[in-house]
Amino acid sequence: MIKNIKGTKDLLPNAMLNILDIERHLNIFMNIHGYGEIRTPIFESTELFSRSVGEHTDIVNKEMYTWVDQNKQSLTLRPEMTASVVRSYIQKQLWKTEPISKFYYIGPSFRRERPQKGRLRQFHQFGIEAIGSPNPEQDAEVISMAYNIYKMFGIDNLEIKINSLGSGNIRKKYGIDLRDSLIKFKNEFNESELIRLEKNPLRILDSKNKKTQKIVNENAPNIFDYISDEDNQHFNDVINILDQLKITYTHDQKLVRGLDYYTKTVFEVTSSNLGAQDALCGGGRYNNLVKELGGENIPAIGFAAGVERLLLAMNLEDNRTIDTDVYIVNIEKQYTAKAMQIADLLRKELGVAVYIDSLRRSIKSQMRHANKMNAKFTIILDLENLKKDKVLIKNMNENKQESILINNIVSYFESE
Ligand code: HAM
Repeated sequence: MIKNIKGTKDLLPNAMLNILDIERHLNIFMNIHGYGEIRTPIFESTELFSRSVGEHTDIVNKEMYTWVDQNKQSLTLRPEMTASVVRSYIQKQLWKTEPISKFYYIGPSFRRERPQKGRLRQFHQFGIEAIGSPNPEQDAEVISMAYNIYKMFGIDNLEIKINSLGSGNIRKKYGIDLRDSLIKFKNEFNESELIRLEKNPLRILDSKNKKTQKIVNENAPNIFDYISDEDNQHFNDVINILDQLKITYTHDQKLVRGLDYYTKTVFEVTSSNLGAQDALCGGGRYNNLVKELGGENIPAIGFAAGVERLLLAMNLEDNRTIDTDVYIVNIEKQYTAKAMQIADLLRKELGVAVYIDSLRRSIKSQMRHANKMNAKFTIILDLENLKKDKVLIKNMNENKQESILINNIVSYFESE
């Protein structure tokens, strides 16, 4: 038997109902905030991700699905969407036609991580990217949107962590000092931490290893001692707006995020409703990325969130069924076309959901199926009624039935 690949999931219709509801709410939420949907391809040239997410990140180093195609071009399934949105923005030179571009997206991303609860190899992200504004009010809008989305979906136990990575060469300078401050503990670190310390020292700050955390807490310099007055002011302006919006947050000076493109504000929303993988969403400013990928010097900020983690936090039932208003019990196969005409008429005139049996089952098992589908009415096409141009309509909740002329079916349902 051929099975799905480890870390991927089939989403069957009953599970999709919750996801489609989430997407519907998100579409409306984004539109009323002035964000329009962008869809980019799910694969891109590998270079796009190595140049943006960063060559020394876990994502690029070990988690990407990359292959060389027939034209000897290295391609990669997107591990995230920010790089693609920026690529598209640059390619279309959108700054020439609009001073600010506000996008949102929903779709699959791919990372070859070790699968566990809330962590998949094909997962789904929704997110936003606001490209064009350098101002703290834009940061505050993005963070408050992330917060309000989780509030909209009724998630409690939310925590927003926020930090600044500064701008210019700060990240690099801080990285060097961080490495120097920790190198004397190298015998205490495991192999992957040593590689991090060498290649991408900031990543040591979000090590999950308790012993490493202690060493870091006691010895690492504070990034806030490095950032400029201007960056400090930007950070204060952002949190000042959040305070006024009554959005609570913690300033987590160890928050660095796992992607290289960030400058200034970074943030994450976590929920204790989730297990070990507690990050619902993460984001931040990336003021250099548009330029680094070949565009103008244009600042930007955004976030992305895991759909699967939102679903886990919402703790929804996934055995919902598709709504059925009317179930047509079709027992005389020569009247199938009649059944279909009635179904189409009801769908078109009244917009109701109509199900027709096509298994030629007994009346009893069709009625049982109608019950299981929570049908509000059944229409039974039996010979005796059909001879009089009638059908039998049964109200399943009130357990009453009537013979109705086929010509009067629509008005019957209109009055029900
Ligand atoms: P990220 O933190 O790598 O950021 O991913 C964002 C969110 O995607 C995570 O908080 C998590 O909810 C979800 N996620 C990530 N990996 C997995 C996985 N393997 N399985 C399930 N869910 C996962 C980014 O992707 C950036 N592009 C965010 C951003 C947008 N920054 C600026 N703009």
